[in-house]
Amino acid sequence: MSLSQNPISIQGVSLESVANEFGTPVYVYDEEKITSQIKTLQAAFSKVPLKIKYATKALTNINILKLVKKAGGEVDAVSVEEVRICLEAGYEGKDVMYTPNGVSMDEIKQVVALGAMINLDNIPVLEQFGQEYGNSVPVCIRINPHIMAGGNAKISVGHIASKFGISIHQLDEILEVVNKYDLQIAGLHLHTGSDILDAEVFLKGANVLFEAAMQFKDLKFLDFGGGFKVGYKEGDVVTDIMNVGDKVSDAFLEFCKKYGRDLELWLEPGKFVVSESGYLIVQANVVKKTPQITFIGVNSGLNHLIRPMMYDAYHSIYNLSNPEGELKKYNVVGYICETDTIASDREIAEVKMGDFLVIKNAGAYGISMASNYNSRLRPAEVLVWEGKAKLIRKREEFQDLLHNQVILDI
Ligand code: LLP
Repeated sequence: MSLSQNPISIQGVSLESVANEFGTPVYVYDEEKITSQIKTLQAAFSKVPLKIKYATKALTNINILKLVKKAGGEVDAVSVEEVRICLEAGYEGKDVMYTPNGVSMDEIKQVVALGAMINLDNIPVLEQFGQEYGNSVPVCIRINPHIMAGGNAKISVGHIASKFGISIHQLDEILEVVNKYDLQIAGLHLHTGSDILDAEVFLKGANVLFEAAMQFKDLKFLDFGGGFKVGYKEGDVVTDIMNVGDKVSDAFLEFCKKYGRDLELWLEPGKFVVSESGYLIVQANVVKKTPQITFIGVNSGLNHLIRPMMYDAYHSIYNLSNPEGELKKYNVVGYICETDTIASDREIAEVKMGDFLVIKNAGAYGISMASNYNSRLRPAEVLVWEGKAKLIRKREEFQDLLHNQVILDI
């Protein structure tokens, strides 16, 4: 399906029928797309021993995690809770890469006990890790390579002012701690940002890791993170994954020769795996004309999809109820008491109150960043799998909002 197409149906299941059956707002995911994205990555990196550690923060539903596993993927988690969800989905601890940021040693100990690979991104905790485990637990180190990359400042994390990773300029300090505690460094890691287009950026990162890697004797893998850019709107240039795979794999194989042993190449894609698989179906509550703008007020907002407001992200929107209608210009806005503009000055087939609209690219960082702001309920999730729409998360109910409130006798 091209970006400019109204996604009327997935695997023959009409999105309008999903909206009617499960209500709106509803997140819908296409199993075939998730599986095919993983297959594409596997093909692009087929020359090297590859592990795809899907970045679960993008979309954490257990059924999605199971699909990734079925396609041959493993997982990356950033909190002990994400690690536990992965275990619930059937992964073993050893399948999980744990890449936290700013967490306590207490949380790290919990994750060591669950058997995941720990990826540390600061020297004080590396020191604590050494004191606690010495060389009995292998560990990975997240390097900040000081590369400015990514679609916008908020998702650019490998530059010198970023909180993530241990600066490549602090390599000597890392080595001091490693030697002091005889740490078993199993891997080195980097992740420079999200929405990265250019193969050269990935290669630049890889070269930083190669250089650092020569200082460690017993590495098992190098992890190049995620960040592949997918298309959000017509005309978007996307990461040429075959080209990146080819170039990075060749450089990697050459490095392995120099290093003197075979290593695994790990990747942590989030958006690449799930962004395009997901759709958020909403309903037009009101169509409101002002002297300047025609607004479509939908039964959703920044509480369900915060990307447009947080990153100025562009998400294509189509009218499912009147796909052939005359194109008109609208601002699509949410029902939250904030300026939660989902799209501005957007051409959409004429919308009447009650029509269903579909918002594309809603698979990654959609429901996983959703909240209950304005005491609104989070949507249901539906997976289209083997040609059938299946509920995979119930819509929240009013009682869920009260669930953890402790009512005093006031
Ligand atoms: N690995 C690490 C260590 C990460 O921090 C991330 C994303 C990934 C992998 C996956 O990156 P991806 O392939 O999905 O670009 N909420 C933002 C994106 C934040 C990404 C955070 N880290 C958005 O919606 O654009």
